[in-house]
Amino acid sequence: MATRNVAVIVGSLRKGSYNRMMAHALAALAPPSLKLEIVEIGALPLYNQDDDTGDTAAPTAWTAFRERIRPVDAVLFVTPEYNRSVPAALKNAIDVGSRPYGKSVWDGKPAAIVSVSPGAIGAFGANHHLRQSLVFLNMPPLQQPEAYIGGAANLFDAEGKLANPGTADFLKKFMEAFAAWIDKVLG
Ligand SMILES: Cc1cc2nc3c(=O)[nH]c(=O)nc-3n(C[C@H](O)[C@H](O)[C@H](O)COP(=O)(O)O)c2cc1C
Repeated sequence: MATRNVAVIVGSLRKGSYNRMMAHALAALAPPSLKLEIVEIGALPLYNQDDDTGDTAAPTAWTAFRERIRPVDAVLFVTPEYNRSVPAALKNAIDVGSRPYGKSVWDGKPAAIVSVSPGAIGAFGANHHLRQSLVFLNMPPLQQPEAYIGGAANLFDAEGKLANPGTADFLKKFMEAFAAWIDKVLG
């Protein structure tokens, strides 16, 4: 089986983020064919189309981000829900990667979404708002299983390690399904 490089985008910038803990847990649970690396989004200036079309060069952080995402095989989004949608930092990263027009770094890459919240409905709203953007970005998302992870405050130990065997078992299967999905999409 081919090794697949997967960029992991974490939608929270918070130091103690459950989503970041989840991203590390997913990297540990993934099958050996997947190489997961978090690509940071916190230093990306807010997207302004003038900086892609005017005389000035695009911000270096945008260029570095685009160069980092372009060569990967697939993208895993691990995100909280803010006000029933995705956090602005995540939407900004998506917008930065999607431009200049015709040069989107997301185009054609298989994706998967794990949404994580301390709340009961597992950031369902963010998960599905993100799916709407993936349609336009031409990123086929893994459909099944869906991963809405609720009750996040009770899933991790003091070191930030996933400490719920049932959740770990489910997420291992999720990552196996993602690996199979990447193979199916990329051939
Ligand atoms: C601006 C803001 C809006 C939020 N809106 C929601 C929401 O719509 N649904 C939800 O489940 N949690 C919501 N929360 C709570 C987050 O789920 C919680 O802060 C969570 O820990 C964020 O993820 P993180 O731990 O990875 O940073 C919101 C938090 C903030 C700061």
